[in-house]
Amino acid sequence: MPLRLSVIGTGYLGATHAACMAELGFEVIGLDVDPAKIETLAAGRVPFYEPGLDEVLARNIEAGRLSFTTSWEEVGRFADVHFVCVGTPQTAGAQKADMSQVFGSVDALAPHLREGALVVGKSTVPVGTAAALEGILAKTAADGVEIAWNPEFLREGFAVQDTLHPDRLVVGVRSQRSEDLLREVYAPVIAEGVPFIVTDFPTAELVKVAANSFLATKISFINAMAEVCEAAGADVTQLAQAIGYDPRIGNRFLAAGLGFGGGCLPKDIRAFMARAGELGADEAVAFLREVDQINLRRRAHTVDLAREVLGGEFLDRRITVLGATFKPESDDVRDSPSLDVAVAMSNAGATVVVHDPKGLANAERVYPHMTYEPDLMKALAGAELVVLGTEWREYRELDPATLDGMADKHVIDARNALDPDRWRKAGWSYRALGRPTA
Ligand code: UGA
Repeated sequence: MPLRLSVIGTGYLGATHAACMAELGFEVIGLDVDPAKIETLAAGRVPFYEPGLDEVLARNIEAGRLSFTTSWEEVGRFADVHFVCVGTPQTAGAQKADMSQVFGSVDALAPHLREGALVVGKSTVPVGTAAALEGILAKTAADGVEIAWNPEFLREGFAVQDTLHPDRLVVGVRSQRSEDLLREVYAPVIAEGVPFIVTDFPTAELVKVAANSFLATKISFINAMAEVCEAAGADVTQLAQAIGYDPRIGNRFLAAGLGFGGGCLPKDIRAFMARAGELGADEAVAFLREVDQINLRRRAHTVDLAREVLGGEFLDRRITVLGATFKPESDDVRDSPSLDVAVAMSNAGATVVVHDPKGLANAERVYPHMTYEPDLMKALAGAELVVLGTEWREYRELDPATLDGMADKHVIDARNALDPDRWRKAGWSYRALGRPTA
C-alpha cells in the first residue's frame, strides 16, 4: 500500500505542499480550520496567487488523489504521515514567534492519530519545538506515534518548482523508521540527485532559521553598501556586480533597494534573536538587530528621498506607488516594504495612489484607507512623483517615452529595476537607492 499523507494548514506553504505531494503520486488530504479556504481549494481554486499552483491543484483533485477537509478525525483516520504547515507569525508586541497554531494543531490532531503515525513539522519554529511536541504526543497520542522535523525552503513565486525540485531536503529524526518513511515520501525527489540530509531535531530546526538569517544578512549587507555609495557618489549596482563575480560571494541576493519584507525573513530573524536570547546565546546573533535596522532604514530613506524630490513637502502632493506586494509574482503584502513606504507618505500628507498587478485586494484588507487603482495608466495620471517599490515585470518593461498624463516626470526606482539612461533620455528625473544622482 502506498503511503497516505495529510497536510495541516493550507496557506502558501501547506496548499503547495499538499498539491505537490499529490503530484508525486500520493493520496493526500489537506486540512484547514478555515472552512472558506477549504471550500475554495476543494473546488480546485487556489485562494492566493502562486504561479502554476492552480494547474497542479486542479489536476490532482481531478485524478482523485487530493482532497480537503476541516475534520481532524478524518485526517487522523486517513493518513500515515502528517505534515504540519501552519503559520508561525510574529507575536503582536514582541519579537518571538506566535506558536499557538503549531501547538494547537498538534493538540487537535493527537487523539485521532493511528498507531505508528508520523507527524512531520515543516513550519519555521524556534529550536526546541520538535522536542516539546514529542513530549506532548507521548502523553496524548497512540503508541508508536513519532515526530520528525523537515524544514521548508520554498520561495513564494517559485513554490511549485522549489517543492518538486528543491536544492536539498533536510530531516531531523529520532529513529530509523522515521527516516525510512521520509525517504519513501521523497523518493522521486531523492532519485533526481537532491541531497538528503539526515540530522537531529535542533539541527534541522536551526538549518531553516540559519538559512533565512544568511539571506537577510546578504540583502542588508548590499543595502549597507548602498548607504555608503550614496555618501560617496558611487553606484551600488556596479559594486554588487563586481563583487558577485567572486564565486565565494556569488551574485544572487545582492539586489540593493528597498530591502526584504514578506511573511518570512523579517519575522524569522526577530524570532531567532528572541529564541537565542532565551538560550543565553543572544550575543551570537546580535548582528541580526543591525541587519533588521539596515533593512528598515531603506524604507525611511525612500520616504526622505521622495520628500526631497518633491521639494521638501508632502502635503497635497500626488504620488503613485508602483507595487504593493513584498516581491513580484506574489499577491502577499505581509510586511511589504513598498506598501510601508506608500502608507508613510500618505500619513505625512501626500495623496498616494497604489498600483499592483496582483496584490491590491490584500493591500486593501490591511490598509482600507489607502487609494488603489488597478489600471496602470489611470494610476499614473496626474502623478507628480512615481515610486517603484516592487519590481514587477510590467514596470520594468515600461517605455518612459510613451508615458503621459503625469503632472511631473519624477521617478524613484527603489528596486534598481529600471534603466536610468533610458528614463533620463525620455525627460524624467531619475533617482535610485545607492546610485549617483545624475
Ligand atoms: C524566503 C526564502 O528565500 C525561502 O528560502 C524561504 O523558504 C522562505 O523565505 C520562507 O521562510 O518560507 P520568500 O519570503 O518567498 O522566501 O522571498 P525571497 O525571495 O527570499 O525575498 C524576500 C524579500 O527579500 C523580498 O521582499 C525581496 O524583494 C527581497 N530581496 C531579495 C531583496 O531586497 N534583494 C535581493 O537581492 C533578494
